[in-house]
Amino acid sequence: MTESILAITGPTSGIGRAAVKELVNDFDRILLLARNMEKAAYLKQELLELNPEANLGIIECDLSVLDSVKQAAENIKNKVNHIDCLVNNAGIVSTTHKKSADGYELMMATNYIGPFFLTHELLPLVMKSEQKQVVVVTSGAYKFAPMKKPFFKPKRFNAISGYGRSKLGILYLAQELHEFYSRKGLRTTAVHPGAVSTNLGKDNVSRKVADAIFALLDPFFVSVEEGSQSVIKAVRQPEKYAGFYSNQGEIAAVKQYGSDFKMRREFIDATLEELDLKAL
Ligand SMILES: NC(=O)c1ccc[n+]([C@@H]2O[C@H](COP(=O)([O-])OP(=O)(O)OC[C@H]3O[C@@H](n4cnc5c(N)ncnc54)[C@H](OP(=O)(O)O)[C@@H]3O)[C@@H](O)[C@H]2O)c1
Repeated sequence: MTESILAITGPTSGIGRAAVKELVNDFDRILLLARNMEKAAYLKQELLELNPEANLGIIECDLSVLDSVKQAAENIKNKVNHIDCLVNNAGIVSTTHKKSADGYELMMATNYIGPFFLTHELLPLVMKSEQKQVVVVTSGAYKFAPMKKPFFKPKRFNAISGYGRSKLGILYLAQELHEFYSRKGLRTTAVHPGAVSTNLGKDNVSRKVADAIFALLDPFFVSVEEGSQSVIKAVRQPEKYAGFYSNQGEIAAVKQYGSDFKMRREFIDATLEELDLKAL
């Protein structure tokens, strides 16, 4: 038996952290892709307390920076020759118009372009594995707004539609993977974890404002342990969720822009062109 390998982005906080803590006994090796090395080292200690035998690798990866994603993928390729399950979980909410190092709107860069590029680079390793699985963490926010040109460097900014578009993009990535690779055995799932009490969106407002907003919303939010269940279920039952959108663990129909094939085609083709790639 070959060793089973999980690679997960955004394991240092929220849903990703809760998921990896529960999945620590499920895989022979886990690659933790993180932008903050201190938090990753701390997480590694926490995971080793849960499973002293765990084989854990930390890979530095800032998803908002294409060079960092490229380097992370190279580091992974030097360490392993397959990945059973890639979980694209990391994401941000930004309430102001920020640009990434590559000039993209920051949510689009972090939540979509970086994960798209990472998936492109790691897909050959996933296809070499036994499990052959990709899980993306999208959001019900995919319904917030249709894609609009210029896709990656918008002139005007709106936090809600900007976040929604980045999550629609990652949903399109999951659909694209399913369409082109399911026949070759790939199992892809897009997960909406529900409204989960995490750090999401709290970085870019003052602590006081964040605490006030989240205290108001708190009754509607579930804990990270509950919120991570949808990701854990998808990882543990690749066959059941393959090709589906999971809304908090329940297979659900994709609505509105999420099922607009023409919009998806145009957006994915524009991404490939922007990244100078021929295909996913
Ligand atoms: N919370 C919700 O209600 C909710 C609802 C629907 C969907 N989601 C989705 O769930 C996913 C996880 O979010 P969360 O709620 O768990 O938020 P979170 O607690 O803020 O965790 C986000 C994770 O992403 C990482 N990250 C952020 N920017 C990054 C970058 N540039 N490069 C690499 N990693 C980066 C963070 O790293 P640091 O630890 O270094 O900050 C952290 O590990 C996101 O994709 C989010 O869109 C969340």
